[in-house]
Amino acid sequence: MSTLGVSFTDAALEARVLAGVEDVERQLSAAVESPDALVSEAAAHLLNAGGKRFRPLLVMLSAEFGTPAEPDVARSAVVVELTHLATLYHDDVMDEADKRRGAPSANDRWGNSVAILVGDYLFAQASELVSYLGPEAVRIQARTFSRLVQGQIRETIGPADDEDALAHYLAVVADKTGSLIATAALFGAKMSGAPDDVQETLTEFGERIGAAFQLADDIIDIASETGDSGKTPGTDLREGVPTLPTLIALRSTDAGSERLRTLLGRPLTDDAEHAEALALLRVHPALDEARSYVQAEADAASVLLAKLPASPAREALQALCDTVVTRLG
Ligand code: IPE
Ligand code: IPE
Ligand code: MG
Ligand code: MG
Repeated sequence: MSTLGVSFTDAALEARVLAGVEDVERQLSAAVESPDALVSEAAAHLLNAGGKRFRPLLVMLSAEFGTPAEPDVARSAVVVELTHLATLYHDDVMDEADKRRGAPSANDRWGNSVAILVGDYLFAQASELVSYLGPEAVRIQARTFSRLVQGQIRETIGPADDEDALAHYLAVVADKTGSLIATAALFGAKMSGAPDDVQETLTEFGERIGAAFQLADDIIDIASETGDSGKTPGTDLREGVPTLPTLIALRSTDAGSERLRTLLGRPLTDDAEHAEALALLRVHPALDEARSYVQAEADAASVLLAKLPASPAREALQALCDTVVTRLG
C-alpha cells in the first residue's frame, strides 16, 4: 500500500494495516452522513477529496505493539481522523484558503457559515464515537482538542511583545498539530492493550514526528510551485502567518535579504508583492536551513523508536520518519 509512500517490508503487516485502514474508511463514510442533505454533501466533500490518512496509519502501526485486531483500534482512528477533518474545515475559513485536497475548500464552495457548521458537526460525530471508547479516551480527546485549539488561537494572536517569534511558532506547531498526532499514536497503543511504557514512548514519538510533519508542510507551502500538495502554495505568506523558513529568513542580517525582510513584515495580499516574496524565499538559504531543521526533528523522533521492541511495525514507523523528510523533495 502507498499511504504517504510508506513501503512495508513485511507482507503480513501490510495486509493487516491495509485491512485496518479500509475498515476506518468505511466507518468514516458512515460517520459523515447526516439526515440533512447539504450537511451530508458538505461533510463528505473533503473526506472524499483525498488526504494522506497519516493519523489513521499511525494508529494502526502503534496498535501493532498490542493486539491490533481490537475493534476499538479502528474506532479510535476514526475519532482522530474525524477530528482532523473538522479542523481542516475551520482552518480553511481562518486561513481564507480556497483549495484543500485538490478540491475547492468548503468555505470556497459553500461559504464560511456552512464550513464552520460542518466542522462543528464533524466534531460532534467524533465526540459521540469517542464516548464508546470509555471515559479515559474522552478525557484524552478533550485535552487534545483543547491543546489543538489553543495552538490555533495562539497562531492567530501572534507572539507577545517579549516573546521570541521562533519559540512561539514552535509552541504553536506542537499544540495545533503535534497534539493530535501524539494522540493518534497513544490511541493505537492504548486501544490495542500495549504496555504502559510502550504507550508513553509512542505518544512522545507521535508528538515529535507530528511537529516535524507540520514543519515540513510549512516548507512545502513555500517551496512547492505546482500546488501538488492539493492546496494553494503561499497561503501562509498571504495571510501573514510566519513559519520556519520565513522566521529564519527574518533573522538573517545580510543586505541581500533586506527586501525580503521588508515584505515579510506583514500579510501579503498584493499579488505582485506576494509573488516577489515567494520567489525570494525559494532561493534563500533559509529554506535549506529549515529543511535541515526538519531532518533533525525527524531524526530525534526516530531515535525514540529504539525504546520499542524490534518488529516490522517499528521498521514501518522508521519509514514514516523518512517520508516526512523525503516529502520535502
Ligand atoms: C494538514 O494535515 C494540516 C497539517 C497538519 C499540516 P495533513 O497534511 O495530514 O492533511 P491531509 O489529511 O493529508 O489532507
Ligand atoms: C494546520 O494548520 C493545523 C490545523 C488544522 C489544526 P495549517 O494552516 O498550517 O495547515 P494547512 O497548510 O492549511 O494544511
Ligand atoms: Mg491552513
Ligand atoms: Mg492555519
